[in-house]
Amino acid sequence: MATAGWANERSRLALTQTLPAESPAQAAQRTQGASVFNQPWLIAPSLAQPEFDGLGPLYNALSCGACHLLNGRGDMPDSGPPLRSAIVRLSTRDKQGAVVDEPHYGVQLQTEGIPGVPAEAQLSVRWVEQSSAWLDGQTIRLRAPKLQVRALGYGPLAEGTMLSLRMAPSITAAGLLEAVPESALLAIAQEQLAQGQGVHGQANRVWDIATRSVALGRFGWKANQPSVRQQTQVALHEDMGITSSLLASPNCMPEQRACLDAPDGGHPEITDDLLDALVAYQQSLVPPSQQAPTRETSEGSALFERIGCASCHRPNLPVDAPVASKLGASEIHPYTDLLLHDMGDGLADGRPDGLASGRQWRTAPLWGLGLAPLIRPGALYLHDGRARSVTEAILWHGGEASNAVRRYRELDASQRRAVLAFLSSL
Ligand code: HEC
Ligand code: HEC
Repeated sequence: MATAGWANERSRLALTQTLPAESPAQAAQRTQGASVFNQPWLIAPSLAQPEFDGLGPLYNALSCGACHLLNGRGDMPDSGPPLRSAIVRLSTRDKQGAVVDEPHYGVQLQTEGIPGVPAEAQLSVRWVEQSSAWLDGQTIRLRAPKLQVRALGYGPLAEGTMLSLRMAPSITAAGLLEAVPESALLAIAQEQLAQGQGVHGQANRVWDIATRSVALGRFGWKANQPSVRQQTQVALHEDMGITSSLLASPNCMPEQRACLDAPDGGHPEITDDLLDALVAYQQSLVPPSQQAPTRETSEGSALFERIGCASCHRPNLPVDAPVASKLGASEIHPYTDLLLHDMGDGLADGRPDGLASGRQWRTAPLWGLGLAPLIRPGALYLHDGRARSVTEAILWHGGEASNAVRRYRELDASQRRAVLAFLSSL
């Protein structure tokens, strides 16, 4: 059990709790960071709030908090209405077969433009009931999204464009995931291989723009970002069209004249001070405390280990010394190994991302999972929100997780209830 000494409450606000500040200046910076997170950006020029202008010209949403509601996950619409807190990444292959950004639209489709700037596309999904699974004489229907790309604003997509639909994940205690030593994660990958149970995680390797070097990927559904800071600047750039010191040119492709000609909100649009606050805020977030164990959740936790869920969803990861001393604990309980795993055809998006193949995904952290329906009623699971319940999410696991799911299906009904009770206590 987590026994670190932060104030902790399992409420809708659970994911917004931070470590105690060490100084009034630090407290003030975090408060500022939290308000930047929820600040809707404005079209430039804004006389009222010049520090928050520069929205777009092409963008997906107005604020971080619009997608990560109360720091939790986004959602997916039913068949038809536009995506709001999910995005579509795209890439194609060059003549040599290397994966490159799509030449007309870049790495992400922006579904909104400021007045005078055509949006890149309208995005929606159509849900297709794919299969059904039996559990205890009950049919569980599984659905998968078919992405609909309409009203392309700048001509057709390049031939062979690969698309990846991703719902916003929660940002639960993101800074703590950054503090797990790389060596610990690589050791887990080796251990999985040595166990020979078909689970063999792989570290993603991605480009760290600030240090100009290859780094371990930790964030995103495919672990394609190395740090909270870079993840934040990419989000500002791709999701909201806000330039920052690292990504200083506007998010417009060469043919997007109206985008290039639109007024900007400064150079860069977010100042380093506000960016620092936004990053510091996320780095100070603590995970929610788990519910006090009951006989049922303890049984569920033991089963979770026994059937092999915990070989990927690691209950304990170490954190480096500076963070450990702030936390008052040397371990965190995120239920992930931050490694990539082949999850089978069912979940594959066919689009590589760094070293991640089109079949691999980062083990989703499960801390805070039980709060998801409280924060957003009707919470959805998995990278594209296809799972309407935790049970559906489990039944979609394939590939390296096939053995664990088979064992899950072989449990009796009360054992499975115990696993679910355990998961909702996280
Ligand atoms: C349009 C919706 C949207 C907006 C706006 C948005 N995000 Fe995200 N965010 C996402 C999606 C989708 C992902 C997963 C991306 C991926 O898999 O590559 C993500 C991933 C993240 C992660 C990684 C979490 C993890 O554990 O993997 C962090 C941190 C994050 N966003 C922070 C931010 C911040 C800070 C902002 C505002 C500057 C922001 N996001 C704005 C949709 C959004
Ligand atoms: C081989 C590694 C692996 C094993 C074993 C595994 N998982 Fe996962 N799990 C993942 C990955 C990767 C994802 C994200 C997949 C995606 O979004 O497409 C995930 C996602 C989930 C999610 C959804 C999380 C979210 O935030 O949407 C739940 C719930 C879950 N796993 C529970 C389990 C349970 C219960 C077991 C044991 C029966 C298990 N997993 C076994 C790798 C694994």
